[in-house]
Amino acid sequence: MVFVHGDARNMIHQHDAIVVGAGIAGLTAALKTAETCDVAVVSKVHATRSHSGAAQGGIAASLGNEEDDSWEWHMFDTVKGSDYLADQDVVEILAREAPRAIYVLEYMGVPFSRNKEGKIAQRPFGGHTINFGEAPVKRACYASDRTGRVIMDTLYDQCSVQGVNIYNEVFVISLLISDSRCCGVTGYDLATGETEIFHAKAVMLATGGCGRIFRTTSNGYASTGDGFALAIDAGVPLEDMEFIQFHPTGIHGLGVLISEATRGEGGVLRNGSGERFMERYAPTLKDLAPRDIVSRAILTEIQEGRGVGGSDYIHLDLTALGRQRLEQKLPEVTSFVTTYVGVDPSESPIPVAPTCHYIMGGIPTDGDGQVLTDEKATPMLGLYAAGECACVSVHGANRLGCNSLIDLVVFGGRAGIAMAKYVKETTLPQLPQDAEATLSRGFDCLLESNGKERVSGIRGKMQRVMMEKCSVFRDRKGLKHVLDEIRNLKRAYGNLSLTHKERTFNYELEEALELENMLKTAEVMALSALKREESRGAHHRSDFPERNDESWLKHTLVSQTKGLQLRYKPVTVTRFQPKERRY
Ligand code: FUM
Repeated sequence: MVFVHGDARNMIHQHDAIVVGAGIAGLTAALKTAETCDVAVVSKVHATRSHSGAAQGGIAASLGNEEDDSWEWHMFDTVKGSDYLADQDVVEILAREAPRAIYVLEYMGVPFSRNKEGKIAQRPFGGHTINFGEAPVKRACYASDRTGRVIMDTLYDQCSVQGVNIYNEVFVISLLISDSRCCGVTGYDLATGETEIFHAKAVMLATGGCGRIFRTTSNGYASTGDGFALAIDAGVPLEDMEFIQFHPTGIHGLGVLISEATRGEGGVLRNGSGERFMERYAPTLKDLAPRDIVSRAILTEIQEGRGVGGSDYIHLDLTALGRQRLEQKLPEVTSFVTTYVGVDPSESPIPVAPTCHYIMGGIPTDGDGQVLTDEKATPMLGLYAAGECACVSVHGANRLGCNSLIDLVVFGGRAGIAMAKYVKETTLPQLPQDAEATLSRGFDCLLESNGKERVSGIRGKMQRVMMEKCSVFRDRKGLKHVLDEIRNLKRAYGNLSLTHKERTFNYELEEALELENMLKTAEVMALSALKREESRGAHHRSDFPERNDESWLKHTLVSQTKGLQLRYKPVTVTRFQPKERRY
């Protein structure tokens, strides 16, 4: 039931639970919660445009439909892929529960591609292996190269059938906390221009990532780290934010994703001399090594002058696949390449370079999505998180391809179940007394701001410095520069001016809110990366090139309490002791 009151400017909606974000994690959680509770999803874009829809190549689960596979191998690959930073108790949950989660999606109606036996088809993906590292295994279930799109559309249909309330195009501005319990969110409705309050017993953040902090990214425009900033503002720490994944194959100059499924189907990377260089970097898995290794290899080739024509890209060669296979298995990639590069991938190689793709860190949670506020695992009652904005820590320092979608459905579902249980056991907290007044004041202040700086200017500088000095290779000097520059840009943000002062569909205002979120997130990333003096997974320090388990086998926690504070917590190691990582 929706209960609405308040004055014209501050409408108050009331539900048992609010899910912020309508991607696969959010919709999966909402469906579970809706079995027993009144749940609403609040999304800043129209729900069907959430970024999960851009996921291409597949979703990992050891179904064994094409060849032998086991959840233990999946667990091992995930832990090794994470450079041993993932918490192994939750990786075990992921790998064990993955096959069932796929069958649930299948029964819901997800149109997976099929093999000759009519079973869900599977293809190889980077870092997924048979028998603890022997050779690539076919573990990625897929729907050609539109896997995220079809899963999200199916979940959206189910949410409509189950009566999940969806508020489209409402930008969440803050979390409401009362007596240390989360009791709702405030938001800005783009269509009406009104500020609103969503009052609930529980809130789940499923707001996705923040690739837009970087100049080159595979992420859509909406990936601006909103959930990270909401957490920071509420005093919740962010975990392991130094680990930022660069996908090896973005279209050169644009960053648009060319799925790893291209290499799973037989595509290869070639340098300027046409050499299949991955054989030198990863003799066993070659082009299907994990992403951190492939991205570093590509940039090393480029830095050492072996880019194509000495330039800053290499080639992804799909010509051996043939037109028919490309059209059948990779239609989306084929159309992107034709549209954006103007070449036919069955005849010409594709110019590619690493592109910012995924954030391994995020809001710390336990295996049931409960948000944790410190190294002692103290929960923030009423607050849950799942998906890319969360860090249950199954990906550690480097995520394997296809482990993101399975993370969304396994841990999104678990968070939804836990939230429904909590809702049943608790009463509705009072709203904080000043919630409505503070919301209107802050919002009006931003609208009326009259400084000298423009959103686009600050954003461009942030994206440039993050790309140049906080991406695949880092060092102390560069990271200190990034941190100083981000702090300068935060000060400049205080001197912002908006050209458009109207309240409805004010995209400049929305971009200003997003920019503030990105700056807060970027500061945490730069600080976390500066402090971690070792190389692990996607965090490669040129000045500390080795992994150092003695000092750094631990998670970073950064929180905002009178400036940013750093703390650390141990990694959970169960079955697999850290070893040297060879592929
Ligand atoms: O390459 C891809 O299709 C991306 C998959 C993923 O990030 O999991």
